Amino acid sequence: APGAQQFIPPDADNLDQLRAAATGCRGCDLYADATQTVFGRGDAHARVVFVGEQPGDMEDQNGLPFVGPAGHLLRRAVDEAGLDPRQLYITNAVKHFRHQLRGKRRIHQTPDQVHIVACRPWLVAEFAQLQPEVVVVLGATAAKALLGPSFRVTRSRGVLMPWPDSAQRPQDFTRVPTDSTGRLGSVPPAQLVATIHPSAVLRADNREVAYAGLVDDLRVVAGALA
Ligand code: URA
Ligand code: SF4
Repeated sequence: APGAQQFIPPDADNLDQLRAAATGCRGCDLYADATQTVFGRGDAHARVVFVGEQPGDMEDQNGLPFVGPAGHLLRRAVDEAGLDPRQLYITNAVKHFRHQLRGKRRIHQTPDQVHIVACRPWLVAEFAQLQPEVVVVLGATAAKALLGPSFRVTRSRGVLMPWPDSAQRPQDFTRVPTDSTGRLGSVPPAQLVATIHPSAVLRADNREVAYAGLVDDLRVVAGALA
């Protein structure tokens, strides 16, 4: 698969241009069975950017990220952690809904590494526009996109980390805008916090404990902004 890079307008200088271009992305095979591209949304000046996995069934139909049950839980946790919901931007590592048909039901399928890599240029382009202070990595797929395949969320969650080398190899970011010094616009001086995905909270044996853990991790984010 060719990847998303060729669909990114090299001269894009705002999120709306990126969002418009992403509607036509065919960087991997996931566009074929999905309803539409689900791009990120939120404050263009957000200090915090959340990265989820991929749109779910409801997001695929609505065209907006995190509008289903996982999104409701996430917003509740954001609130409780003391983050301002109006100052956030929320997106996904993969921008089309990967699923399998079972009768009339569409069953979520975790994206493969090939989809994560193909779609990552959109994520990098979003970061380049947003220049966030903190990136919140929600679950294993987002962690694979930004921290590599060996990162374990369960082991390293809730810790403020520097933007990793694994997320700034220039060869991964060709055709992303550079600033006047030639520095990659894609390498914001951001920090990063990994945590459990809100969908995993919904599936947990002990939801209360899992939810409290998510809120604790988001308090670390709030603390980093203070
Ligand atoms: N889960 C995600 O990772 N992203 C969404 O947008 C919805 C559910
Ligand atoms: Fe493009 Fe990403 Fe959709 Fe694949 S999942 S077609 S790379 S937007």
